[in-house]
Amino acid sequence: MTITVNGTEHPVSERQRTKRLIEFLREDLDLTGVKNACDVGACGACTLLVDEQPLRICTKQVQDVAGHRVLTIEGLKGIDGGLHPLQQAFIDAGAIQCGFCTPGMVLTAHAFLLHNPRPSRAEIRRAIYSNLCRCTGYQQIVDAIEAAAVFYGTVPRTLSHQS
Ligand code: FES
Ligand code: FES
Repeated sequence: MTITVNGTEHPVSERQRTKRLIEFLREDLDLTGVKNACDVGACGACTLLVDEQPLRICTKQVQDVAGHRVLTIEGLKGIDGGLHPLQQAFIDAGAIQCGFCTPGMVLTAHAFLLHNPRPSRAEIRRAIYSNLCRCTGYQQIVDAIEAAAVFYGTVPRTLSHQS
């Protein structure tokens, strides 16, 4: 069994198959960007992309995503290898305070913009509806996603993340 994370295929041992996916990523692969907040699938903080679809992983095991492509926040990069324009937009808009919701929020927004590069603000609000943020009041997050949409509308889809 293997799992592909940020473009790299990792073998999964018998012991790791039933390990919690969030612990496998954080402890075994040292990908600590993914956060565990509620632990029951309710808040969205642990959201990753699996085959480009947002998935809350705090209730998942490694074997649940075997054979699929997983993208964590560490795999989201700009074309030059630096910050992705969506990450930069979050910084520019002041859409990050404690940062605990941010990796899941950014990945949810990334998946949304891949499929909808010209969203209305109402569509953006709906897209992030189930990612909870206790700090920002959401306005700056919507501003950031709206600003980053310009990038998704102009760059070929294959270049929109480096995974
Ligand atoms: S930590 Fe997974 S949904 Fe809250
Ligand atoms: S920035 Fe603190 S929960 Fe969103």
